[in-house]
Amino acid sequence: MSEPSAPREPGESLVALRDASYAYEDGPTVLSGLDFDVTEGRALALLGRNGSGKTTLMRLLSGGLRPEQGGLTLRGAPVTYDRKGLTRLRTTVQLVVQDPDDQLFAASVEQDVSFGPLNLGLTDAEVRARVAEALAALDISALADRPTHLLSYGQRKRTAIAGAVAMRPRVLILDEPTAGLDPDGQERLLATLQGLRDAGTTVVMATHDVDLALRWADDAALLTPSGVRTGPVAQMLAHRDLLAQAGLRLPWGIAVAELLRAKGLSAGAGEEPRTPEELAALTAPAMPGASAG
Ligand SMILES: Nc1ncnc2c1ncn2[C@@H]1O[C@H](COP(=O)(O)OP(=O)(O)OP(=O)(O)O)[C@@H](O)[C@H]1O
Ligand SMILES: [Mg+2]
Repeated sequence: MSEPSAPREPGESLVALRDASYAYEDGPTVLSGLDFDVTEGRALALLGRNGSGKTTLMRLLSGGLRPEQGGLTLRGAPVTYDRKGLTRLRTTVQLVVQDPDDQLFAASVEQDVSFGPLNLGLTDAEVRARVAEALAALDISALADRPTHLLSYGQRKRTAIAGAVAMRPRVLILDEPTAGLDPDGQERLLATLQGLRDAGTTVVMATHDVDLALRWADDAALLTPSGVRTGPVAQMLAHRDLLAQAGLRLPWGIAVAELLRAKGLSAGAGEEPRTPEELAALTAPAMPGASAG
């Protein structure tokens, strides 16, 4: 049986786990013998059921946890877990945890977002520039002086992401960033992430939302009991067996594309509608010579 995990886009492996295993003390073995690459420029969605190991994998990739066997590499070089090695890792890879209250601790938004850059020993002017840039990217410049504990949940979430963005990471890893956001907040976050991607940041996101993953990601990694399977998102999320193993539903866009193809309407590979607007464009009758107005 051919599995969709083999083909990979060419691109440099930025951060990777090699033959990595991890078990929590008094807990289960979560990952065993895992090879996993975050490829430069490829937006990656991590999907899998509760307890499948998404958060654990993200903490291993960002250096918060250390593999018991195997190791982590940064541009091919083994990461060392001393101060120097971890500083180097954290200027490349930043993790935003799911609950902003586990991340925010300073009194004000600006202080919180300043914390990482200050710890890098940058000048005050450089710190101010980075903080202003991160607040603008997350559309929270107006909240700079607000006490973090008085912010709404969505505002706290944006503040936590700004703290990571202020480190100007090459890889931004987000644990369920859209959970708890309203539809407009989700759209704004996706637009923000698109801006970061356009500026060269590689973004990794854990999510339970297959439709969001199809729409947003280039690649998907599915955490199944038999291992982690990675490949192009539309291919991975059309694979019934893998979806069942990972406890996921078929995305609407894939189901619609299959139906359109069965009806003889075009929806070739890569043409899966990812939004209602794309579906409308795909099914609109071709109107040669039609023009607006
Ligand atoms: N600190 C811990 N100590 C012991 N076991 C843990 C710890 N953190 C997680 N686990 C266990 O490790 C496994 C993987 O958990 P993890 O949080 O990585 O899953 P997840 O895919 O992120 O789940 P969710 O979708 O619920 O966020 C689970 O069985 C969990 O109970
Ligand atoms: Mg989790």
